[in-house]
Amino acid sequence: MTKTLLLLPGDGIGPEVTAQTVRIIERLNAEAGLDLATETALFGGAAIDATGVPIEEATIARAQAADAVLMGAVGGPQWAATAFDVRPEAGLLKLRGAMNVFANLRPALCFPALADASTLKRELIEGLDIMFVRELVGGVYFGSPRGIEDIGGGKRRGFNTQSYTTDEIVRVARVGFELARARTGRLCSVEKANVMESGLLWREEVTKLGASDYPDVQLSHMYADNCAMQLVRAPKQFDVIVTDNLFGDILSDAAAMLTGSLGMLPSAALGEAGRPGLYEPIHGSAPDIAGQGIANPCASILSFAMALRSSLGRPDLAERVEGAVAATLEAGYRTADLAGGTQRVGTAAMADAVLERL
Ligand code: IPM
Ligand code: MG
Repeated sequence: MTKTLLLLPGDGIGPEVTAQTVRIIERLNAEAGLDLATETALFGGAAIDATGVPIEEATIARAQAADAVLMGAVGGPQWAATAFDVRPEAGLLKLRGAMNVFANLRPALCFPALADASTLKRELIEGLDIMFVRELVGGVYFGSPRGIEDIGGGKRRGFNTQSYTTDEIVRVARVGFELARARTGRLCSVEKANVMESGLLWREEVTKLGASDYPDVQLSHMYADNCAMQLVRAPKQFDVIVTDNLFGDILSDAAAMLTGSLGMLPSAALGEAGRPGLYEPIHGSAPDIAGQGIANPCASILSFAMALRSSLGRPDLAERVEGAVAATLEAGYRTADLAGGTQRVGTAAMADAVLERL
């Protein structure tokens, strides 16, 4: 049966890298029995320019009706000065919320061929394989009240609310426990229970869930600041990390860079079973290099691989795509963001090399 993938290329390098993933899809449709139909919609700044809003309601409906959604990137300096709720980023939060994709899987995986591309010593990151589970539709990103208000005397106050309920914590923690169980059996839960009530509740609920449903998983807890330090000190101590929306945003960027480049890392945002997932490269829109044909398409291609595995029922093809990317790196191909290698290539040539090995 034909499945549908909604493409939201967005801004900056988003359209360039998404176009390369479309070539991978076309190949798999033609030669591997994929049977995937793609649709495209405006998103982010591109949607603001055309429609006045970062995502139209009709696009949200199409996302909810698709089997999966693949995003490029959103944002750019030309939209940074607009009101908060019509910025490109607001469209992304709205989409995540509407799709209710509460668990964001962000693997920080060190490809063997890139072990020397990291800013850390090879022995610290060789074989690194961390899976972040970031809560994605709650916490301070979504809490109310929020705003900027006048407090008199020409002064203002900006405020946001961090809040988590038992259900919000348990459903994302469950994803972490399940992944840990399928990997090396270790889950580290990260918060600031020492200063935040929401963090204290997080710790208590995760502990309770572990004791009742996952006694076989080795659960540890860590404060977010310590986790940041441990990620650059000895990252291989981690297997699965589960954390809230804001800490997950920050810590996953740090972990991503350990692996050599933000340009390599995919992510999958998943909701309730059977609902479409939202797949995004972790990198941003990189306006400084947009349009030059030098962006790394691998994060987009690997995000699509995650979609094959988690939303499109083709884990076999996911492995094939991931294997082709790894082989391309082994063969020495590198985009500008990656150190080392033997051949400097642009966006399309990198995808050519992946296609050749697919
Ligand atoms: C990410 C990004 C987004 C976030 C922005 C673009 C809203 O940084 O996906 O990590 O903060 O969640
Ligand atoms: Mg981020």
